[in-house]
Amino acid sequence: MSGKLKDRVAIVVGAGSSGPGWGNGKCTAITFAREGAKVFCVDLKRAAAEETVELIEKEVGKDVAVAFEANASHNVSVKAMVDVCMAKWGRIDILDNNVGIGSQGGPVELSEDEWHRVFDVNVKSFFLTAKHVLPIMEKQGKGAIVNVSSIASIRSPKGISYLAYNASKGAVNSLTMAIASQYAEKGIRCNAILPGLMHTPMIDFLAEQYAKSEKIITRPTRR
Ligand SMILES: NC(=O)c1ccc[n+]([C@@H]2O[C@H](COP(=O)([O-])OP(=O)(O)OC[C@H]3O[C@@H](n4cnc5c(N)ncnc54)[C@H](O)[C@@H]3O)[C@@H](O)[C@H]2O)c1
Repeated sequence: MSGKLKDRVAIVVGAGSSGPGWGNGKCTAITFAREGAKVFCVDLKRAAAEETVELIEKEVGKDVAVAFEANASHNVSVKAMVDVCMAKWGRIDILDNNVGIGSQGGPVELSEDEWHRVFDVNVKSFFLTAKHVLPIMEKQGKGAIVNVSSIASIRSPKGISYLAYNASKGAVNSLTMAIASQYAEKGIRCNAILPGLMHTPMIDFLAEQYAKSEKIITRPTRR
């Protein structure tokens, strides 16, 4: 442990994993704690956030992590998350926006409701967390926001469509650039990371969906 994040407070939104195994948020929360940060672990599923906290307590120690249940797509829930974190630790140095859901289908197959569901989770949540955290970072004169986008924001695999997911991650990139340029002079960084495919519970779920849905997608063809 290098202590690189000693005395820093991090909120990880989507700090659990959606099934057994390791999601990105769970890994990030534990890595932050190893580096010395206090970590506010937020997830839609309380048990998932608690599991991450237990892992941190076993490895790093007590009073380093807190589990909090919140729906990152709901304004009231996000405000409560920020208020409780501030009441506990009095500052927020890092906001890691990790929530994300995948959804299969192109423009013809995808329903309007599904389009909105994906954008609510993948984009609106990043807007809402920034809305409530940025005034705090501005007062501190520093802070860092990490938005988890995806390689899918700039690439689309041949023969399989995740239209809403791809478009939502493209929106995350634009939102990130807009926040970064507005807040750079105030000492606040905002970056997006674009991971490639990783074996997480979300991918297990999408692979299962893919296997069941030969009718609505075309499998990639080999030349
Ligand atoms: N796994 C990959 O290959 C891959 C590749 C590129 C980008 N990503 C991105 O990484 C991020 C994490 O994905 P993962 O694969 O670890 O998935 P995951 O499903 O294991 O983790 C996502 C977590 O977010 C939580 N969550 C979902 N909706 C929420 C909400 N409204 N409020 C609060 N919490 C919520 C889930 O309960 C879950 O614990 C996502 O943004 C995803 O798009 C994943």
